[in-house]
Amino acid sequence: MKNTVATFQEMKSRGEKITMLTAYDYSTAKLVDGSGVNSILVGDSLGNVMLGYEDTISVTMEDMIHHSKAVARGTKEALLIVDMPFLSYQTSVYDAVVNAGRLMKEGRAGAVKLEGGAEMAPQIKAITQASIPVCAHIGLTPQSINVFGGYKVQGKSEVAARKLIEDAKAVQEAGAFAVVLEAVPAKLAAIVTRSLDIPTIGIGAGPDCDGQVLVYQDMVGMYSDFAPKFVKRFASVGEIIVEAFRTFDAEVKAGTFPSQEHTFDIDDEIISKLY
Ligand code: KIV
Repeated sequence: MKNTVATFQEMKSRGEKITMLTAYDYSTAKLVDGSGVNSILVGDSLGNVMLGYEDTISVTMEDMIHHSKAVARGTKEALLIVDMPFLSYQTSVYDAVVNAGRLMKEGRAGAVKLEGGAEMAPQIKAITQASIPVCAHIGLTPQSINVFGGYKVQGKSEVAARKLIEDAKAVQEAGAFAVVLEAVPAKLAAIVTRSLDIPTIGIGAGPDCDGQVLVYQDMVGMYSDFAPKFVKRFASVGEIIVEAFRTFDAEVKAGTFPSQEHTFDIDDEIISKLY
């Protein structure tokens, strides 16, 4: 069954948990899509896990469109959400609509995601009015890393907690169909979740959010540059891959690969004519 923004809303009203994982390429998208996970996020975390940057600041619209196109080709059932990269929407409402439109028209996104609370309400409203669904993202917003001064839990003081609740209400009011809560204390995320009609999708925001999202390389053990407390390793795929690479290296050097079963034959008579 194709997941849409309406599916998210229905799942929240039925009290069913929503799942989301990142993917950045065709093969991974097919695996995630076939697993029953509700949504695939082409996150700007691709800057870290695919391109090797220290943060998401350098990610461009072209990067996002390139990866989104590949993921879209491998996605049939999941709702495809694509991140708007740094400075593709903060600069003006006009830029926000044009760039969200590019992610949908060229990248084949089903929805876009952008970071920020009340201050992004005009952008969320305009993009939504252009018939492009918007998922908001508040709490720890990695594009603001230089303002935060590090990847820190957000909303811990009373003022910050109240601001987070206000931001959540503002993005809902502006038309967002869902909101990602990143690195927020679990009890605060629970209050936000109860006070909204739209679903909350948590990452480091405890179990009471309406859904959960993780970066797939983190959860399968393929990325070790940085390991936030909220990441659970569901598999150790990185170790399995390295073992396969080692075995390949050893077999080629020992002359045991390729063997007969991986080799094409030709008539000996034809070969004899070549000498
Ligand atoms: O870019 C990303 O992968 C994200 C998730 C961490 C929510 O925004």
